[in-house]
Amino acid sequence: MGSPTPCETTPLIALDARADHGIVHPSPTLLSCAPVLQVGLGAWERETACTSLTERAEASVAAWQTANWTKETRCKRRRRCGEQGGKMGDSGSKTQGLLLGQEFPNFEADSSQGKIVWHDYINEKWAILFSHPADFTPVCTTELGTAAQLAPEFAKRNVVMAALSVDSAESHKAWIKDIIAHKELGGDDIPYPILADEKRDLAVKFGMLDPDEKDGTGMPVTARAVFIIGPDKKLKLSILYPATTGRNFDEILRVVDSLQLTAYQSVATPANWNVKGGASTVGGGSTDNTDCMVVPSISDDEAKEKFKKGFTKAELPSGKGYIRYTPDPRSAM
Ligand code: BEZ
Repeated sequence: MGSPTPCETTPLIALDARADHGIVHPSPTLLSCAPVLQVGLGAWERETACTSLTERAEASVAAWQTANWTKETRCKRRRRCGEQGGKMGDSGSKTQGLLLGQEFPNFEADSSQGKIVWHDYINEKWAILFSHPADFTPVCTTELGTAAQLAPEFAKRNVVMAALSVDSAESHKAWIKDIIAHKELGGDDIPYPILADEKRDLAVKFGMLDPDEKDGTGMPVTARAVFIIGPDKKLKLSILYPATTGRNFDEILRVVDSLQLTAYQSVATPANWNVKGGASTVGGGSTDNTDCMVVPSISDDEAKEKFKKGFTKAELPSGKGYIRYTPDPRSAM
């Protein structure tokens, strides 16, 4: 351990993570590294400097978002801060919050269905882990009931499900009765476990705490995070909603379809792809909004070979043929 660099002793960014629906607005203090709030890369390592869970939550939310900045941005910031070495970059993998492509770490947790060892639970399937603020709350009850209703759709896509909040497994079990009654699900359990994270270890580690939402004892609760993990255990998608916005689980299924199309068929999906009744992508070479797009890494020759249904190039002023539509490879010829 050498003496601290300027970036370690001065804050990197001041932000209100909730000010604009979770969008990070680096304050002017970022540019000057003024002493406002110690967050950003390396925040986790500086956790010992935080005295309360609220501070940890603020650092957690901020670091989760900061971790999604590009390496280049972080390097630029390091240069602004005058840091010499690569210490901040080196610490990237140790911060809480996960980057796309990182392996989702293994963990053990109690749950409404008993002890869960995460990597054993997800096995070699796709997985969704979604957190919610607290048991016995209205939006959460509708969300977990809706997720239960859609469980057969997730199963069809080989996706195992788990929810998580900062309440105990016993509380989860009691609340599940309300979820079942409210959504008229029948039976005596929902088709996925709710993980218990009373000490907030997982919530902090994965950047899921919401510093603006507190439980009855003043402790921050979990935000509505969504993590989709591939069979290779790597993070494929993360989304963070505030406590007051219930998630659209149909949209999450649509995203799973898109991720799996990319993984298995080398296609991307355009704006509003497959949105029922939404604004259409039709035009410029596409005939309906289920059309997919050939990913840029595939050449025309490779695409001709790979996509038996063919592809259509959009004509563009640039003359560059980079917009290539192809019918959904899963649809009948
Ligand atoms: C809800 O689930 O209704 C909720 C939870 C925490 C804050 C706001 C809403």
